[in-house]
Amino acid sequence: MTHYPDRHILVIFGATGDLAGRKLIPALHEIEKDPTTRGRTTILGVARAGLTDDAFRDQVVAALAKHAKPEALRDWVSRCVFYQSLGDASSYAYTALRQRLESLERQLHLPGNRIFYLALPLPAFPPTVESLAGAGLNTSPGWTRLVIEKPFGRDLASARSLNALLHKHYSEASLFRLDHYLGKETVQNLIAFRFGNALWEPLWNRDRVSHVEITAAEELGVEARGSFYEQAGAVRDIIQNHLLQVLALVAMDAPAGLDGTSVSNEKLKILRSIAPLQPDDFVLGQYGAGEVDGKSLAGYRQEPGVSSTSKTETYAAVRLRINTWRWEGVPFYLRTGKRLAKKATRIAVTFRTPPATVFSPYIVCGSENNRLLITLQPNEGFNLSFQVKIPGGGMHLHTQEMRFRYAETFGALPEAYQMLLVDVMQGDHTLFVRNDEVEAAWKVAEPLLDTGREPLLYPAGSWGPTRADELLAPACHQWVNL
Ligand SMILES: NC(=O)c1ccc[n+]([C@@H]2O[C@H](COP(=O)([O-])OP(=O)(O)OC[C@H]3O[C@@H](n4cnc5c(N)ncnc54)[C@H](OP(=O)(O)O)[C@@H]3O)[C@@H](O)[C@H]2O)c1
Repeated sequence: MTHYPDRHILVIFGATGDLAGRKLIPALHEIEKDPTTRGRTTILGVARAGLTDDAFRDQVVAALAKHAKPEALRDWVSRCVFYQSLGDASSYAYTALRQRLESLERQLHLPGNRIFYLALPLPAFPPTVESLAGAGLNTSPGWTRLVIEKPFGRDLASARSLNALLHKHYSEASLFRLDHYLGKETVQNLIAFRFGNALWEPLWNRDRVSHVEITAAEELGVEARGSFYEQAGAVRDIIQNHLLQVLALVAMDAPAGLDGTSVSNEKLKILRSIAPLQPDDFVLGQYGAGEVDGKSLAGYRQEPGVSSTSKTETYAAVRLRINTWRWEGVPFYLRTGKRLAKKATRIAVTFRTPPATVFSPYIVCGSENNRLLITLQPNEGFNLSFQVKIPGGGMHLHTQEMRFRYAETFGALPEAYQMLLVDVMQGDHTLFVRNDEVEAAWKVAEPLLDTGREPLLYPAGSWGPTRADELLAPACHQWVNL
């Protein structure tokens, strides 16, 4: 049964920023086009810049230039899009924000449901949360929900203090910690794929799985975001949140239900079962200059906004152990990096070789028979590889793949932000991250932070530092560099 969201105002803090323009506004436009969600959302953009409603509407129309003609948007933006400047972000500015919300709710006959979306730089989270509560905006005549973009803190201590501040003013049920990876169809499909099929569960354990690799590789460098990235690095930007969330979904037991509490409970068990990382369990790297397709590429330290002596890692590879009955002895390898050979986010589940084989001459390090490659992006889909005999004389084996591609069956997939925003509107927590998950993930990632290690240089366009191969070599495993 379709569940239409209640009518509400969505207040976007950081409405003039990159995330709002590239992701949130296009997602809201798609939501408006969908008959099941149309007409439910009034948008109030908020930032410090002094803009009129009309100037902000022009920004919204410009952000949608690729999606719709300006004339097709005019009616929607003039009815549903508004702007409130926060100026100096003083308590007066927040009182004015509350009055604006009340006035819009009266004018548009809205029931007083409010979503506050913090698309803000991390340092602006705590003062914004305090100021919202100070102006009484943590409650409303209807329901109030607060969406917090990652990063959720910079380390375990700051995540704990951010969670404590949030809980001072909000119940956990009104909080939505958003990790956009969880809104990707392919990530959600991990639950359907694992628990909607009887085939996988008997194989999904230490008896049948040799090792699991989760890679998020980017071809691009830091582009114009050098100064942001200097404060983040690959561990804070990708490993602590996106990759540990994907790992939890791959490794967790079947949840009692598909509600947020049941799914978070299972993910949490996995995150808490990861053995503390030792210094030889990870490799950190940084891209140097390189050449791709005859084009020279700058090294990270030469990028705008980056220190010439920066130790920020643009690459991280980690070997994890999960101390559960299901996974004891099965290494999980996580890897992410910028300026790598190919853009690809995928999970490779490699199964054990047959226990006794008549084909032993063909089994060498890294030549596993059966592998399930789940591609999260781009070219979303699966490849399942297995051995077949090559027709003709002798017994020669060939690794064959069965493949499935979403695009061929379903066409284009919806954007993660569209799915996640609708979930917030409906109050569904299944694809959001609970406070204890965030803290457990920081606990795993802490040994990788601020190590003082000099990151290993790797050439732009490569698969990262060769030292990362040594994480896998003792177990006779290899990275899937396809
Ligand atoms: N961009 C992405 O693709 C992406 C992806 C995932 C997560 N995120 C996260 O999303 C957040 C926003 O990222 P972004 O890339 O959009 O940043 P951005 O381009 O720098 O935009 C920041 C926005 O926040 C506003 N702002 C800054 N300080 C403020 C304050 N104290 N009160 C109210 N508004 C304030 C800015 O406008 P004024 O200066 O006029 O106030 C601007 O609208 C960050 O936490 C980032 O890590 C971004």
